[in-house]
Amino acid sequence: MENLSRRRALSLGVALGLVGVANPAGALTSAGSAGSAGSAGSAGSVAGAAAGTDPAWIWDDATDPLMVSMLENGHVPAINTAWASWVNNNDPLPSGLPDVFAAHLRQFNRLPSWADRTKLARAADFNRRRDTYLFMLYGLGSGIMSTVIPREAKSVYWSAGGADMQDRAAKTFTFGYDLSQLGAFEPTGQFVVTANKTRVVHAAVRHLLPQSPHWKAVADETVPISAADILVTFHSLGTFVYRKLLDWKIPFPAADQEAFLHSWQVAIHLLGVPDEHIPQTWAAAEKQAAQVLTPILTPSTEGIALAEDLLGLTAQIDLGVTRGFLNEFVRYVLNDEVGDWLGLKRDYASAALVRTAWPAFILFREGLSPVMPGTFYVFDQFVRALAMLFLNKGSSGTTTPITIPTGNRAG
Ligand code: HEM
Repeated sequence: MENLSRRRALSLGVALGLVGVANPAGALTSAGSAGSAGSAGSAGSVAGAAAGTDPAWIWDDATDPLMVSMLENGHVPAINTAWASWVNNNDPLPSGLPDVFAAHLRQFNRLPSWADRTKLARAADFNRRRDTYLFMLYGLGSGIMSTVIPREAKSVYWSAGGADMQDRAAKTFTFGYDLSQLGAFEPTGQFVVTANKTRVVHAAVRHLLPQSPHWKAVADETVPISAADILVTFHSLGTFVYRKLLDWKIPFPAADQEAFLHSWQVAIHLLGVPDEHIPQTWAAAEKQAAQVLTPILTPSTEGIALAEDLLGLTAQIDLGVTRGFLNEFVRYVLNDEVGDWLGLKRDYASAALVRTAWPAFILFREGLSPVMPGTFYVFDQFVRALAMLFLNKGSSGTTTPITIPTGNRAG
């Protein structure tokens, strides 16, 4: 991937809708570097501050040493047990946590001072109104894109959770689900807690993965999940979805766009990314995505296996469509290059159907066209079934527990 030509980066970026206003060529970085999100981030960041350290060299000083100590001293199983019942943002901290760990949560389990509750409430409402498209784009777009982000694919595959993708996918959906809930950021919501648990899990992974001989053999870095990596993942989620909603001509008023961005800004802050690197506008986010995400996309053995697991997972429930249709939908949402990388078998009849009928489906669904496409019910069942895949957890009233791993995938 390091030899990626400017032309190829551009065409891939255009296909994914992630070129924005940037010149991707200027962002191609040296082999092994995550790419500097700093230049783009500093110009249009939440804090508007001058660029400090390149986020490729920022991990989480506040959490990483704490988790080394928790892991080394055998506290993690007790923490996992104690925090299982700690779910809502206003739940008191559970008893049974080591003092120093509880003190950490007390300090970080809160919204940043710049969080705007009005925007967060609007974002939650937007997420509810648009949930079917969001689940579909996060699940089949971002989820599959994550498998061609090599650092993410390799770390997910070789961490403990990689051995059970179904469970891991459920936990990742928890993040999206909690973020999408009405009142996610309110005291009775769950998102702040979910984000903090995730931050702690990431810190544990930073200590554990470097001890995995498998990960070390394939990794191009010594410590995983830098702030730059988290920004890359944000672009594969938030920025990608933002662009697709616009490309699909789904009504997306400016206030919704701003609110959606704000909810992601708060999410990235809660995951420990310094404010000065968090994009302040969608234009800045798209520019950063073109620099740090598009050029690094490439297949890996681990990513191909993860994609198969993920698509197999969705195939387990009846989406009302064939696996060929699913493959073609992924190709449509991402692009054929990614589809080829992942070996997604072609189904040309489905490809033609998706490419012509999906835009008509959206127009009709959004009330922008009076003509109901003949295939309306195929797509309708598809989007409903995908939404249920995400929402089932919600309707059962339980939260998939996020647990801190104590080891890596064995092999
Ligand atoms: C764990 C979300 C960025 C690698 C998790 C979990 C969530 C999550 C919800 C907990 C679920 C679980 O235990 O499996 C996110 C979000 C991100 C992000 C929302 C950015 C916006 C990254 C990046 C990497 C990464 C950049 C690697 C490059 C991992 C790994 C685990 C994990 C290895 C642990 C899996 C295990 O339990 O073994 N993440 N993540 N994440 N994440 Fe992330």
